[in-house]
Amino acid sequence: MFKKLALSTAIALGLAGSAFAAGEGGHVEDYSFSFEGPFGTFDQDQLQRGLQVYTEVCSACHGLRYVPLRTLSDDGGPSFSEDEVRAYAEQNFEVFDEELDDFRPAIPTDHFPANDSVGAPDLSMMAKARAGFHGPYGTGLSQLFNGMGGAEYIASILTGYTGEEKTEAGALFYENTAFPSGWISMAPPLMDDSVEYAGGYPATLEHQAQDVAAFLMWTAEPKMMARKHAGFVGVIFLTLLSVLLYLTNKRIWRPIKYKS
Ligand code: HEC
Repeated sequence: MFKKLALSTAIALGLAGSAFAAGEGGHVEDYSFSFEGPFGTFDQDQLQRGLQVYTEVCSACHGLRYVPLRTLSDDGGPSFSEDEVRAYAEQNFEVFDEELDDFRPAIPTDHFPANDSVGAPDLSMMAKARAGFHGPYGTGLSQLFNGMGGAEYIASILTGYTGEEKTEAGALFYENTAFPSGWISMAPPLMDDSVEYAGGYPATLEHQAQDVAAFLMWTAEPKMMARKHAGFVGVIFLTLLSVLLYLTNKRIWRPIKYKS
């Protein structure tokens, strides 16, 4: 029985290892993010850089309406201090206060503002709403090890522009190798050095794309690390339980099995 178990585990792991990304229609690059795998965690510095890209570039068109600003100080997230979050909220966003009947600077208990100015989709859940990995590679163990590819999809969109443009029914479209239809109406939002990172960290297009994609994975699943931790504890517990049950079972039947 153990042999069989070992064999099927080996096969399953083998399949997961060879998993490779293929978006439905578009090409999705299989980036390796720090939060992948059963023990993966968000990289705090990367989330902070991603927030910077979102704030300075993406928020011009996209909102994050489901994300409370105060969560920026949560453990496992970008982990800013509460003072930093307060300053960030105040400096970057204005919200409409119904009591004041006027706009005021945002405070940590507000959410990131929504943004419908150009009809761009809200990005709060985008990393979970889109799967980069489909078909046989998008299920089961492979997803456990590589995730569903939402962050990969976003990073691939941001780096997937070919430079070709076309006008259709008066609207401008840009060719994009990751977008399912091949033509997206979002103009290329990023290029090298669109933002300036602190500490001289190189703001290449690839870095910015992966940073903001990681940040959007966090907005879509802020409790990912807590979930993985709980899952891990559960697995250990069940493993111990199985061993104990196996030994108990042996012991109970021992007198009958070895009856002389
Ligand atoms: C100038 C406005 C603008 C900016 C800036 C912008 N976007 Fe967009 N974005 C759009 C529009 C419009 C769409 C809808 C595109 C479509 O459906 O063809 C879109 C769509 C998207 C999508 C969804 C693609 C899909 O599968 O539906 C993602 C992801 C995205 N943007 C991410 C970003 C990120 C990340 C940034 C910042 C680096 C950003 N965008 C900056 C306008 C913008």
